[in-house]
Amino acid sequence: MTDHVGIDDIALATTGLVVDLGVLAQAHSVDPDKFYVGIGQSEMSIAGEDEDVVSLAAAAVQTIADRTDISGVRTLLLATETGVDQSKAAGVFVHGVLGLPPNVRVVELKQACYAGTAALMMARSLVCSDPSEKVLVVAVDVAKYDVGSGGEPTQGAGAVAMLITADPSILRIEPKTGVHTDDVMDFWRPNHRTTALVDGKFSIEAYMRSLEGAWTDYRAHDGFAYDDFDHFCYHQPFTKMANKAHAHLVALNGGDADKAEIAELMGPTQTYNRRIGNTYTASIYVGLLSLLETVPADLAGHRVGMFSYGSGSVGEFWSGTVVPGYQLHLDPELTATVLDGRKAIDHEAYLHLHDFALPIDGTSMKIDERAARNGFRLAGVDADRRQYERFEPTSAVLG
Ligand code: COA
Repeated sequence: MTDHVGIDDIALATTGLVVDLGVLAQAHSVDPDKFYVGIGQSEMSIAGEDEDVVSLAAAAVQTIADRTDISGVRTLLLATETGVDQSKAAGVFVHGVLGLPPNVRVVELKQACYAGTAALMMARSLVCSDPSEKVLVVAVDVAKYDVGSGGEPTQGAGAVAMLITADPSILRIEPKTGVHTDDVMDFWRPNHRTTALVDGKFSIEAYMRSLEGAWTDYRAHDGFAYDDFDHFCYHQPFTKMANKAHAHLVALNGGDADKAEIAELMGPTQTYNRRIGNTYTASIYVGLLSLLETVPADLAGHRVGMFSYGSGSVGEFWSGTVVPGYQLHLDPELTATVLDGRKAIDHEAYLHLHDFALPIDGTSMKIDERAARNGFRLAGVDADRRQYERFEPTSAVLG
């Protein structure tokens, strides 16, 4: 048994295409500052015809495999709410296209945007009980709402892969957590829909209630006090949500929320999400990576409070401390290349992709259109069987 367990490597992947929210604002005759300033989003990653949660997850894991030894991984937990099959786990497709060895257990987890944290906690338990275990956790989603709906500017797509081990190089996960479940209908996606339904204002309220419940539970289980934290990182369906959440946490702890101070504290966790959009399960981990990669100061020894929220709803508050030397295991230049390397598309191209769907009548389709730039793509579907392929990443992504 050990409790020195945590994130040994962490990597981001996103799509090859991007829409500036100014383009969407113009199409809807809305002031672009409603998106840029009001909800805190500047761009959204858009999945091309040949991109889905499998191609994104494979790319994120490959980034880890390129720099860290993943041999000996015996578990791959993939969290998503935009899976590609009702039965087969997306992680099994990832396992296949990456050519991982057969002695790996693979499973998919779902609870809206929370499931990545469930996977992380399960991974932690596996490694705590046997420190020789290594677990790959992937949080990945393609966030899609109806055109013209309130959620439309908060779409996005991306994956975060994390390698969980004993004696981790980046973030040590601390044992105390606080949890909260509440059966509410704030955001959901029935099986027959490709786009999510959301009661936007109510979802903000439900998020706040969940934060309050999880924080209260965390403190009741001997969790650290508010003043023991150096940073906080929140699930960000849109980046401004983190500011609202943190103001609520400050108030819960008897403080007075100064907007400018909160914006400064949240800023480093929002840099990447602001450019990618909502990635559902991955969003909080995109925030963590953003914090670790964009703050120039050495964060070694700093404690980060993490609040993970999944509508419906489940919330969990947990914490981690940054491991000295973590910078040596991150690659902010690669992340910048991945973001800057996306191809900007216009409103018409975005609408085409929003409507694009694979056949649902069993007919085959070969996907010739190439949007993916990160080494993995969906090449088509043959009699309801998805076909994935690996290719040499474009030089923009290789850096
Ligand atoms: N300049 C600057 N700010 C502006 C603005 C402008 N021109 N126009 C509006 N704003 C601000 C508003 O004041 C508001 O700020 P506030 O939240 O601090 O009050 C913000 O922009 C949003 O405006 P609002 O009128 O509330 O937008 P909306 O009715 O389109 O709804 C959401 C916003 C977030 C509810 C909507 O985008 C949504 O449903 N998103 C999905 C929610 C989600 O993902 N939930 C998942 C569960 S967490």
